[in-house]
Amino acid sequence: MLHKQGFVYVWPLSARIIHWTIALSFSISFVTAFYHTYFTLHLAFGYLFMLSLIFRLVWGFIGPNYAIFKTFTLGFDALKFYFVEKMKNRWRKIHPGHNPASSWFTLIVLGIGLSIALSGVVLLGVQENSGPFHFLNHDFFNRSFSLEKLHRYLSFILLAWAIVHIWGVLIEQFYHATKMVLAMITGYKPCEGEDATVSGFQHFLTYSAIGVHAVVFAFLLYSDGETFLTRSYFAPYDYEQEHVLYATACTKCHKPYPPFMLPRESWVKVMDGLENHFGEEITDKNISRSDKGSIKKYLVSNSAEVSSHKLAFKTLESLGDMRPLSITKSSYWREAHSRIPVTIFKDPVVKDRSNCFVCHKHFEYGLFDNRFIQLP
Ligand code: HEC
Ligand code: HEC
Repeated sequence: MLHKQGFVYVWPLSARIIHWTIALSFSISFVTAFYHTYFTLHLAFGYLFMLSLIFRLVWGFIGPNYAIFKTFTLGFDALKFYFVEKMKNRWRKIHPGHNPASSWFTLIVLGIGLSIALSGVVLLGVQENSGPFHFLNHDFFNRSFSLEKLHRYLSFILLAWAIVHIWGVLIEQFYHATKMVLAMITGYKPCEGEDATVSGFQHFLTYSAIGVHAVVFAFLLYSDGETFLTRSYFAPYDYEQEHVLYATACTKCHKPYPPFMLPRESWVKVMDGLENHFGEEITDKNISRSDKGSIKKYLVSNSAEVSSHKLAFKTLESLGDMRPLSITKSSYWREAHSRIPVTIFKDPVVKDRSNCFVCHKHFEYGLFDNRFIQLP
């Protein structure tokens, strides 16, 4: 680091990398959250976000001089003075480290950001039976609705908070003309004070942390969801073991639908109405009465009501009292597919909306992972 006349070296490499990693990983995980097909990206950037926040937290205690929380100005009077002077008198004095506004800003980002990251990993476990908290799925899958809301609302709050921050920086840059934007790129602020000093140990920690971030991120991105941080713990259905008859009798025209896909009474309707099954006639000659009875029993006892799959409990919740023959009648199904152009469903490869197997790889095994979504 070189001393520059009229400038203070405030943000060493570690600070700038943390800052931009937090900004970038939050933005990308925010956007990818809207598309199930980008779930792998969402998780990879989400974990990157979490890591960089943890690094920032640690840096608050053992980092270089301007990074540590002890140097933050947190008094309410200081904050008030700062804003009043800034706006009323167009005060242009620049703090070398965190001014009262950015001190509070940083702490709040850390608080909300870590809550988003933690609620995300827990949600992944509760709702998707995946990742380090997968063991929570069995007992708490019903809570995933509120957890998902929390995760989402906190993200919107952080987005709003980030916009406030950007506004502040722009006001600095243009209204006060203090060239603040460049500081987070070059590390230098045009002000008076002592340059930040980075010890050998801190350098070592910085480069190790960058290494850990990069390895974890690359691992998550290229492992196709097969890491302990992301893996789904739902076992694939083995129909040979579960119910051979279902796998042989019901797969003449389509692959087997996993039993948790529909509620109990829907399966009863499907099985009692095989004479007119979506335009096909399945008589007792095709499948004997006793075989039908056995299949019905299997489907009913493994229906949506007894499953902790997201597909099952979200379908049940959205159906209310309805018990249709097809899952495509549920508002959950319609909402989940509302962004897909109708023409895709008319594609000769897809043929029908009920042909889930075309777009959801391994669907017939009951594997219902966002990562397996593929459009023809
Ligand atoms: C003769 C052919 C045929 C056989 C045999 C058959 N199905 Fe179907 N099934 C269809 C057709 C056609 C559809 C409509 C969707 C499509 O075009 O893929 C359908 C749709 C379904 C759906 C609706 C999926 C949804 O939610 O949209 C379920 C459930 C279903 N079948 C269950 C069964 C079960 C259980 C059996 C065995 C008892 C069975 N099917 C055997 C032809 C068949
Ligand atoms: C034309 C391809 C296609 C077909 C056919 C299709 N899906 Fe999907 N499905 C998708 C895509 C793409 C998404 C992700 C949509 C998004 O991200 O906006 C999706 C999303 C979903 C979701 C939400 C996933 C989540 O994690 O919340 C569910 C549930 C679902 N599909 C179930 C089904 C079922 C059940 C069927 C069969 C009755 C089916 N889909 C048929 C393409 C398809």
